[in-house]
Amino acid sequence: MRHSIVLFALVAGVTSPMLEAEPVTFTEHVAPIIFNNCTDCHRPGQGAPFSLTNFEEVRKRGKFIVDVTADRYMPPWHAASGGPAFKDERRLTEAQIETLRQWVASEMPEGDPTKLPSLPNFPEGWRLGTPDMVIEMSEAFDIPADGPDIYRNFVVTLALPEDKWLKAIDFRPSAPAVVHHSLFFLDETGEARKRDAEDDTPGFRRMPQRLERSGHLGGWALGGNALMLPDGMADKLPRNADFVFSTHFHPSGKPEKEKSVAALYFSDEPPTRRHSKVQLPPLFGALAAIDIPAGEKRYSKTDYFDVPVDVHAFLIGAHAHYLGKEMTMKATLPGGELLQLLRVDEWDFAWQEQYAYKEFVLLPKGTRIDSEIVWDNSSENPRNPANPPKRTKWGLESTDEMGSITIALSAVDQADSEALEAAIGEHRRESALRTFLANADQSEEGRGWMQRARTMFDQDKNGQFDPEERKLIREFLKGMGL
Ligand code: HEC
Repeated sequence: MRHSIVLFALVAGVTSPMLEAEPVTFTEHVAPIIFNNCTDCHRPGQGAPFSLTNFEEVRKRGKFIVDVTADRYMPPWHAASGGPAFKDERRLTEAQIETLRQWVASEMPEGDPTKLPSLPNFPEGWRLGTPDMVIEMSEAFDIPADGPDIYRNFVVTLALPEDKWLKAIDFRPSAPAVVHHSLFFLDETGEARKRDAEDDTPGFRRMPQRLERSGHLGGWALGGNALMLPDGMADKLPRNADFVFSTHFHPSGKPEKEKSVAALYFSDEPPTRRHSKVQLPPLFGALAAIDIPAGEKRYSKTDYFDVPVDVHAFLIGAHAHYLGKEMTMKATLPGGELLQLLRVDEWDFAWQEQYAYKEFVLLPKGTRIDSEIVWDNSSENPRNPANPPKRTKWGLESTDEMGSITIALSAVDQADSEALEAAIGEHRRESALRTFLANADQSEEGRGWMQRARTMFDQDKNGQFDPEERKLIREFLKGMGL
């Protein structure tokens, strides 16, 4: 990237006589870039801290804008290029970045006011059109002016007359300045409602693990897009389910009240295509014995999945906490060709985006999918919440760690769906077992678990788990709902 900037500077140098004849101006050159790539967030009522809607607002921050665009901090987009294209990619071209630089270097002339484009028509209503159902938190939740980040779960009773098929969820925070992200869950057990009733403050703090594992329906993050499932696909919304917003707040310096609203979109028809998600490593790494020594700059965990039938991949997203650094998922196709499915070089906890591929990505039977999550627990990681760094293990708090990449797949031939789902279940158990066996000796808990597993499953007491014994363990894990 550095090279191409230099190259552009050179090209700009060569062509400068022409540019002098036609200076870079706000109205003609800069406004179209800003209005189309920045203003959607940088306008009143959105998540960004200031507006970029006119000459004065942009001029005031000209130098800052050059810095944040040159290092691609803005517009925020954390997936590296190099794989299949994503929908609604937010990425400036090198030429656009160079235009901004030239404009600031030439003292930011406004230019001919008649050439100023009008602001784009930002959608007033929901981004996916009129929803079938709108749900809202029953009470507002108070976020203090400052203090640590807050995690809180809010239950909304849906009281549906019948089961529904969900195509999409869009989300609107009432206090966008403090809502970092919200994940959506379904609860058919009443457990969430029970926890909510335990005190007078709206919502409850800790999500029951059972819920965290089962009913995850995606989520919303700052700048996130509202995504419709591809044609023919839908998620079941059982009539007795409660909806849970699991929201992360970051105090902004002034007190705020949050009363989130979500729009639900239903399909009239039951789905004709099934889809499943593969998470590598599974359960956000819960069984991968994540235990990151203080100061460790590159701590990594890997996992893989052998694709059992031809599938289409359509959506991918990564998750980790503050120490997360790099995430990669790649496919090795049956012919040996490598395909980058997702690469995040500079993970930022504040942006929990999901990326939808522009087109279905075909992964033929026999493809191997590999993922690697890298954490940086050194003091060089500016996001490290501990100073000096602290040993960090897997856990639910944001100062604990977790990490995985999840990819959504649908069998090309729907008759293969069951085989796909069975393979995903088997992988989850096998990978849990494999990572557990490889890492059990790394922690106190792990050693305790290992001892119990030996007593239960090492039937011939040879100190190992032979293939037959591993099968028993997988059956046991299946019985535990894994
Ligand atoms: C998807 C929403 C979104 C888009 C699009 C976006 N921004 Fe931002 N921007 C934010 C948010 C949120 C913040 C504050 C949080 C942060 O710094 O990450 C921010 C912060 C900034 C900052 C301050 C950075 C700092 O270190 O404090 C600048 C400057 C900026 N944006 C410029 C731009 C420019 C220029 C563009 C377009 C090329 C752009 N942004 C596009 C959401 C957005």
